[in-house]
Amino acid sequence: MKSQNLIDAREQHVARGATNPKLTVASADGAVITDLDGKRYLDFVGGIGCQNLGHNPKAVVAAIHEQVDKFLHQMNMVATYDSYVDVCRKLNEVSPCAGQSKSFLTNSGAEAVENAVKIARSATGRPAVLVFDRAFHGRTLLTMTMTAKIVYKKTFGPFAPEVYRAPAPYPYRGISSDDAIRGLEFLFKAEVDPESIACAVLEPVQGEGGFLPMPLDYIPRLKELLDRYGILFVADEIQSGCGRTGSMWGIDHYGVQPDLITVGKTLGGGLPLGAVTGRAELMDAPHPGGLGGTFSGNPVSCAAGSVILDELRRPETMEMARQLGDRLRGGLEDLRRVDEVGDVRGLGPMLAVELVSDRASKAPATELASRVLAEAFDRGLLLLGSGIYSNVVRFLPPLTLTDDELGEGLEIFEQSMVAAGATRK
Ligand SMILES: Cc1ncc(COP(=O)(O)O)c(C=O)c1O
Repeated sequence: MKSQNLIDAREQHVARGATNPKLTVASADGAVITDLDGKRYLDFVGGIGCQNLGHNPKAVVAAIHEQVDKFLHQMNMVATYDSYVDVCRKLNEVSPCAGQSKSFLTNSGAEAVENAVKIARSATGRPAVLVFDRAFHGRTLLTMTMTAKIVYKKTFGPFAPEVYRAPAPYPYRGISSDDAIRGLEFLFKAEVDPESIACAVLEPVQGEGGFLPMPLDYIPRLKELLDRYGILFVADEIQSGCGRTGSMWGIDHYGVQPDLITVGKTLGGGLPLGAVTGRAELMDAPHPGGLGGTFSGNPVSCAAGSVILDELRRPETMEMARQLGDRLRGGLEDLRRVDEVGDVRGLGPMLAVELVSDRASKAPATELASRVLAEAFDRGLLLLGSGIYSNVVRFLPPLTLTDDELGEGLEIFEQSMVAAGATRK
């Protein structure tokens, strides 16, 4: 078994902290991954949201090949090239922020968040950062501190200073927008002077936290409160952006203009590329030389990113995303016939099912969820958990998913729940 050999070799050579997954990859195309033994998997994970346009979209692969033949690397602080400027220009054109936007490119999502905080601190002269319950912003020291799940933090402290956490709404578990706003007002009285806060960083739909869309009234109310104290609002769109919610950005659903956004994952189409985009006067606050990085905005990643943005800007792409969202939601709602399905939620095609041991107590069904993922894997469907209790199964299929693939995926998911011990009426 070629797959098992590779998994064994990884066990021996790769640090265990990086996790040893059971899936090996020989090739990938659209929504399908084929492993080293020739087994086919329907991919509803997409590298955790990196393949919104599917694996290896043809136009992206062609642009990468073209760039590879020209040059591979230029440090963008030493020399400039078309694709870097193109990606920034296109991001600025689709920016949800007020007025003119400017952009800065990074290697990863975490690096984008780090830079958004640097820019906000530079623009405001303030030290503190406001984050929220169930947030995920990355694994670097600052972004790990900003993240709210112990598995990502255990043994890695001490953490970065000046990070303050407020409640976030979770209607299914009884935390309303009112509760969250009240909690923030209390934080401003008890823990941190709001006038010392540079920015608040929030995922419009929390990803790792359990695919929790912020209620429609919450973000406008939050923004009003932040404005009162001159706190900048950063929308972390690394998972919810690039068409994932059926709109270019998750924040588009809320009628609020953020000051900055962070972008990553699908932006590079599979190559490492992140970005901070935002109001030009804020983006220009750091002095020349204050932002940078050896590989950030690498020419090959930018060649991919430029085509990805073209594809995402086509109205047909968003229409396709919205239609997939409707069909996927319909299919998941039907699965409420399984007793342990406690909640079906999300925005557009960014959807999840929260599993509970019974609907009255809503106790998180963590072990059931883990068995469901394993059963789905054996049946050739890739799914991923999320949520503080890892009891939320999230769906991140490519927006290009066909009806047949969707039907197949939903059928395997239902079979897997039953095989894992869930009860179907
Ligand atoms: C909302 C959000 N922010 C930041 C990150 C970190 O991105 P990266 O893993 O590219 O550093 C992630 C990754 O999952 C994310 O979902």
